[in-house]
Amino acid sequence: MLRTIESLGSLDGKRVIVRADLNVPLDGTDVADGIVIADDGRIRASLATIAELRDAGASVIVISHLGRPDGAPDARYSLAPVAARLGELLGSTVQFATDTVGESARGIVAALSAGDVAVLENLRFSAAETSKDSAEREAFAAQLAGFADALVSDGFGVVHRKHASVFELASALPSAAGRLIEAELGVLERLTTEPARPYTVVLGGSKVSDKLGVIDHLLPKVDNLLIGGGMMFTFIAAQGYPVGASLLEPDQIETVRGYLDQAAKLGVNVVLPTDTIVASKFGADAEHTVRATESIEETPWATSGIGLDIGPDTAAAFADVIRQSETVFWNGPMGVFEFDAFANGTKTVAQSLTESRGLTVVGGGDSAAAVRSFGFSEDSFGHISTGGGASLEFLEGKRLPGLEALGWL
Ligand code: 3PG
Repeated sequence: MLRTIESLGSLDGKRVIVRADLNVPLDGTDVADGIVIADDGRIRASLATIAELRDAGASVIVISHLGRPDGAPDARYSLAPVAARLGELLGSTVQFATDTVGESARGIVAALSAGDVAVLENLRFSAAETSKDSAEREAFAAQLAGFADALVSDGFGVVHRKHASVFELASALPSAAGRLIEAELGVLERLTTEPARPYTVVLGGSKVSDKLGVIDHLLPKVDNLLIGGGMMFTFIAAQGYPVGASLLEPDQIETVRGYLDQAAKLGVNVVLPTDTIVASKFGADAEHTVRATESIEETPWATSGIGLDIGPDTAAAFADVIRQSETVFWNGPMGVFEFDAFANGTKTVAQSLTESRGLTVVGGGDSAAAVRSFGFSEDSFGHISTGGGASLEFLEGKRLPGLEALGWL
């Protein structure tokens, strides 16, 4: 049974660490030019728990990773802009420690009063956070644990990681799941326990190898499987067509063929793209044209043409299936939505989810960011998950260390 905040008893006057996932997408990599938060969805998703603890009289110490720095301080991945945004959203002062377990953190934590909120610097500035050596992780978790009386673990996006702040810290302190993790699990469980039918899964994104586990696990459970994004080209190659310079994982072609055979036996409706937008190069200003998926190389660019989005017929076919579904899970963009010319597929899929009468779940940082960048209201989807890899691994039926540490079996 997942331990929830109630299991910690009164937190009035206590110091509580909140392990959040504030790993937000950033614009800009040059600190001097300024780094801007491109999408603050994960910060907003963390507010409920932080505000609840603050209002209950706790001193709240928020910890998170940001990006994948190399186990040492790197200003490009500082949580300082995130702490500032958290303060704006909470409407209260948020203090920021310029290290994670050093002098700055110790000083700030020692001075916290009831209802104060502080953010410590990026956990991944310490190599111990992600170390393969459990003793190193335990030692780092013990340092963090020294700051507080309890841990509320609420970084759903990171529960699939066996990292010090996610796994070991949960045993080093009395610990419980926060409201975001509770909410995420409530929705994802509806996808795994007797989902309303037809049940449709839409997969995109660049790498088919990242999605094999979820395809394997979900194939016997779904009615429709729609495949777009860069991963579609491995499926198109598996159908025997050339894909030019499009993304391709040749070593996965046989596996993909096996899934197509299995789907046919199970009676699953696998909908593969019938057309794609082929571009002269990878770039916002590339020349481009629509081609049937069997004639990707029949353009002026021949074998150097590169598919960057699903085509309009495919987008319309996907939208039809989605609109008629009672449960939809979508992970991964349909094309390079960051470039206007290749955003239509992703936009059409997002739009059709808003028109579906069933439960619609958007999983994954990229799809969630896409939905928000197109200006769709979050309320027009059943749920926008903050976890990309985490929601996929949950649906794959994997054991997730960050949930097991909170009593979830
Ligand atoms: C995510 O962005 O999916 C989570 O924050 C986990 O990040 P990671 O893949 O770098 O561990």
